[in-house]
Amino acid sequence: MDRVVAPLSSVTNGESLSLQGITKVFGAQGSGLVAVQSAELEVKAGEFLSIVGPSGCGKSTLLQIVAGLMAPTEGAVFMGDKNVTGEPAHMVYLFQQYAKSLLPWMTVEDNVKFSFNHRMNLSAAATRERCREFLEMVGLGDFARHYPWQLSGGMQQRVAIARALAAEPSVLLLDEPFSSVDALTRLDLHALILELWTRKRFTAVLVTHDVDEAVFLSDRIAILSHRPGHIVEVVETGLPRPRKIVETHSDPRFISVRQQLLSYLLKKPGTPSAPIH
Ligand SMILES: Nc1ncnc2c1ncn2[C@@H]1O[C@H](COP(=O)(O)OP(=O)(O)OP(=O)(O)O)[C@@H](O)[C@H]1O
Ligand SMILES: [Mg+2]
Repeated sequence: MDRVVAPLSSVTNGESLSLQGITKVFGAQGSGLVAVQSAELEVKAGEFLSIVGPSGCGKSTLLQIVAGLMAPTEGAVFMGDKNVTGEPAHMVYLFQQYAKSLLPWMTVEDNVKFSFNHRMNLSAAATRERCREFLEMVGLGDFARHYPWQLSGGMQQRVAIARALAAEPSVLLLDEPFSSVDALTRLDLHALILELWTRKRFTAVLVTHDVDEAVFLSDRIAILSHRPGHIVEVVETGLPRPRKIVETHSDPRFISVRQQLLSYLLKKPGTPSAPIH
């Protein structure tokens, strides 16, 4: 199942992100629900960083703020040196629900086209060629004329990935994008996303519940506390690349980082934790 991956390029197309004192209160301030409190995080250009934390701790809220889909109550997000105040042009948000993210009345090719057509002034032939290129990248070159509902869940998520990447993002935000597919498809999508990240070198920020997924994919993992979420610790995975599904999952470093993350996440709120190294 392991893919042949090109060596990791040191040249990145990614932009750095800086989350500065992010607080989000839903409802009236004072009596509202504090979802995120004073979250601070720096993501390097071209880095693969995951955010893990207990359910309801504010992960999706934080990612939506980074994406400019929601304004923080306090604090600011910078992409490179630009303050994010709306949806930035070169940032793409990949949703968990592929069924929701694809347009069912459009073919697979038209779904991919939709992500870049308005930005690039390409001829019809060049547009078709570009769609083919990205669909081939995710192994769906033969399915351009199909409709999303004619594909399996994993294939639909591949279309969503092709569409996200055809927009040439410098930052790709992923909110549990692999959680609605079966375990084997998920491993295959992990290998695919790493292969594409290695080739394109965008900055990736992944929100996930799946500790193995976070360790396998990431350079670093940010741990959010119980709500109101703030960054408790950022762990360097320290695993070599390219990563391979079987070998990397059995690397002693993988097992040790996984163990430490799990013991944090399984802890009841309010109990002290040992630092993770
Ligand atoms: N639009 C909203 N209006 C009011 N409260 C909200 C809104 N969105 C999220 N919340 C609340 O903010 C808190 C954090 O929610 P969020 O969806 O960010 O958590 P999460 O960490 O992504 O959870 P999960 O792991 O279950 O996906 C929750 O208590 C939730 O009820
Ligand atoms: Mg969420």
